[in-house]
Amino acid sequence: MKKVIIRKTEEIENWRRNINREINFIPTMGNLHNGHIKLISTAKNDNSNINLVSIFVNPLQFDNKLDLENYPKTIDNDVKISFANGADAIFIPSTEDIYPPNNKNIKFLKASIELSSTLCGLNRIGHFDGVCTVVYRLLNLIKPKNLYLGEKDWQQLLILKNLILTKKLNVAVKSIPTERDFDGIPLSSRNIHLSRKERKLIRFFSNELLEAKTIFQQEKKISLKAIIKKLSAEKISIEYLEHLNPYTLQKVRVEDNISLLAGAIRCGETRLIDHVFLMKRRPIIAIDGPAGSGKSTVTKLIAKKLKLLYLDTGAMYRALSWLLIKENIDYKKCGNLQNIFKNISIVFKSNNNSHHDVFINNYCVTEEIRSQEINSIVSKISSIKEVRKFLVEEQRKIGESGGLVAEGRDIGTTVFPYAELKIFLTASIDERAKRRKSDKQSKDSQEIDLDTLKEHIKKRDFDDSNREISPLIKANDAIEVITDGYSINEVVDKIIDLYNNKIPKETQI
Ligand code: PAF
Repeated sequence: MKKVIIRKTEEIENWRRNINREINFIPTMGNLHNGHIKLISTAKNDNSNINLVSIFVNPLQFDNKLDLENYPKTIDNDVKISFANGADAIFIPSTEDIYPPNNKNIKFLKASIELSSTLCGLNRIGHFDGVCTVVYRLLNLIKPKNLYLGEKDWQQLLILKNLILTKKLNVAVKSIPTERDFDGIPLSSRNIHLSRKERKLIRFFSNELLEAKTIFQQEKKISLKAIIKKLSAEKISIEYLEHLNPYTLQKVRVEDNISLLAGAIRCGETRLIDHVFLMKRRPIIAIDGPAGSGKSTVTKLIAKKLKLLYLDTGAMYRALSWLLIKENIDYKKCGNLQNIFKNISIVFKSNNNSHHDVFINNYCVTEEIRSQEINSIVSKISSIKEVRKFLVEEQRKIGESGGLVAEGRDIGTTVFPYAELKIFLTASIDERAKRRKSDKQSKDSQEIDLDTLKEHIKKRDFDDSNREISPLIKANDAIEVITDGYSINEVVDKIIDLYNNKIPKETQI
């Protein structure tokens, strides 16, 4: 495809009309550095869409005239960098093109009050309104499929995601982690203004944040006061330093696993921001849903793709059933199962086939727990209150360090109520009956009546949702994914997109 530079809004509208492929859009204000290069090359490697980079220094997002005048402009170099790293087209409009005077169709937007009235929004009045206005305008002109943004401006990223949601725009946001220079400071177009002394100060600040992250990993706590004291001793002028919930930007709560430590400092005329994510454990994905929704297949694939542990809770119930049979324990008569459970340990270990083996009291039972004998007993055993209680505790122990995806009926409600991502995977009764029919037919080539299957599924749903112990319930904060008409891979990709959209990339590395 011929590489093009487009300067006028009419031209970009024409170009857009004649393009019959999807677009990856990378908006920038120019003076491109490695952070931008990473955005462009990520877009290029993600898919075969057309990559469009825009370069526009948006006056609306500058609260300070001098800052706008001094904003570095390096167009020729930016064009070279963009094309060399995967841009197919570059849009370089003028201010009059983006904001034609007297044009009543231009919408001047307000950013979400909740997200913009903290951190950078406190001192940069109108900044995020300006960002929303320009991005909305560009999205309407370009109509991309994907929008690529850096996590360095985390607050901007949240505000733009919120804008896309509230305006119901059909664009997916893809983000990349903060790119840091050799000395730890985040790459920013404004860094070129820094004197040697100023750079030393920002380096001190960034390294303090990075150190806080390391300390948090061990101690699970930080002291804002201690960090402020250290920064002040270096005569660093702090605009803010906050420890917040990374999604609401409100004060962090005890139950928040991932939190945001964000700060802004002033170095001479230059204002610099930086942040790190603090994590008590690695993320957890909880997938619940009725029988036949495709949970286990989907969960296994997600675990593989995201390199997470697949916590096969079903295998734990099966392993316990196996042991009870092997040891001849009459669980119906046994008054005190807890005493027996004291000496049981269930662990998962990865094997050479990039799967996990399940061990109970050091026996590898991966194969044996799939026997007909276990099939016939596991449901009974898993409805025993003490069994449920014991295994939920074991599952939570495995989940203490996170980094897993678990599937079941009560994962998001009971086992991991603070999972970062909760999915309720379901499909209509018709769809599940059809799947079950083709499954059964391929196994035993028997004709099965679809209506009978539907009745079975309805009854199973009713029993699962109404049983006393661990009923199937959708957690309030779970996202419902209805799989009718979607292939397994499409469902897996959808859930991975939801994960990537929620979990900062920095914490996934
Ligand atoms: O992050 C930036 O460079 C700008 O805020 C953006 C998103 C290009 C809007 O002008």
